[in-house]
Amino acid sequence: MTIKVGSIELKSRVYVPPMAGVTDLVFRRIVREVDPSCLLSTEMVSSKALMYKTENRIMDLGANEHPIGIQIFGHEPDIMAQAAQMAQSKGADFIDINMGCPVPKITKGKDGCALMREPELAREIIATVKSAVNIPVTVKFRLGWDDESRNAVQFGEMAEGAGASLVTVHGRTRQQLYSGKADWSFIGLVKKALSIPVFGNGDVFEPEDAIRLLEITNCDGVAVARGSLGNPWLIPRITKFIDTGVLDQAPDDIERLVVAFKHCLGLIAYKGLRVGTNESRRHLTHYTKGIPGSAVFRNRLTQITSAEDALNILAELASTVEGPGGKERFLFAVEQDYLEYCKKPGEGNGDSEDRIQTPVNIGSVAPIAVP
Ligand SMILES: Cc1cc2nc3c(=O)[nH]c(=O)nc-3n(C[C@H](O)[C@H](O)[C@H](O)COP(=O)(O)O)c2cc1C
Repeated sequence: MTIKVGSIELKSRVYVPPMAGVTDLVFRRIVREVDPSCLLSTEMVSSKALMYKTENRIMDLGANEHPIGIQIFGHEPDIMAQAAQMAQSKGADFIDINMGCPVPKITKGKDGCALMREPELAREIIATVKSAVNIPVTVKFRLGWDDESRNAVQFGEMAEGAGASLVTVHGRTRQQLYSGKADWSFIGLVKKALSIPVFGNGDVFEPEDAIRLLEITNCDGVAVARGSLGNPWLIPRITKFIDTGVLDQAPDDIERLVVAFKHCLGLIAYKGLRVGTNESRRHLTHYTKGIPGSAVFRNRLTQITSAEDALNILAELASTVEGPGGKERFLFAVEQDYLEYCKKPGEGNGDSEDRIQTPVNIGSVAPIAVP
């Protein structure tokens, strides 16, 4: 079954949807390395903010990321249309409109999920954006504002009528935020009512969850957000399980630590030392979750201020997991990336004074030769 989003033919039924503070260029590059075809999206970007500052790094796209969408939020149709045009000129394959964000800061300004209470305005936004660009427009929303007003079916019909080419439905209401369980049956009602592809979303943490969601909802695809945190391999494992019924093993703990460290290096290189290490802390705790004996290391990982900190702690954890051989395997696997990083730590995002001043000596933690 081929899923078509406008003129784009998807090769995968799996989507890593927008996550603010997570699905940046670095995270997506890691996902793309393990899964060549899943659908990707940027974090959400404020349409209004783009009117004041047209350059926004959230819209940076890498060459190998396609198919990828840029997600915009806002409630003023003309401003949303201009933002969509900017996103299109950045090379997005589709524009995703956020009509599901539950965060009060967003909804109090009529943005995000607040638009589920204003379907006429939502229609105008979708139609105006659609007519402003020549790439597909998709919409992401929830089941409704609260249990008393679950209008996802009508809202989906409205989105389709206004020109959306795909919708992603998170099986919770705005009031639920992330509590309770996603109601996959209700997502199935949206799927049944629409002709455009529907991606079901909410609480997929294992490949088996994805299969159950697809069976219950009959959706065209599945969107996997939190499950991919510290676990990018979940995406290709789901893809393969859906396509072939074969369930691949998750990578072993040392492999996880290797990718964790590369993620950290990528963030520092891309965002600068201060922001990069800050943001890495959260990712590193996700990568190490479930590794036996990792709790005490996780605590230390939340305090890293340099790539060397991360390297030391992860190497020690590798040793705890598999003995000296584990540490050696970890260091051997990260050596090349680390040395390259030390030679050229990257541009960062403006806090260049925070860049690594001196290359860290990998030899202080590594039983390996450093040229
Ligand atoms: C940290 C975080 C940031 C998120 N940011 C966005 C966002 O920018 N736009 C959006 O539409 N949804 C956002 N979401 C919602 C997710 O895309 C997804 O709908 C939700 O997490 C449910 O899916 P899951 O159970 O697979 O995590 C975010 C979720 C998380 C956890």
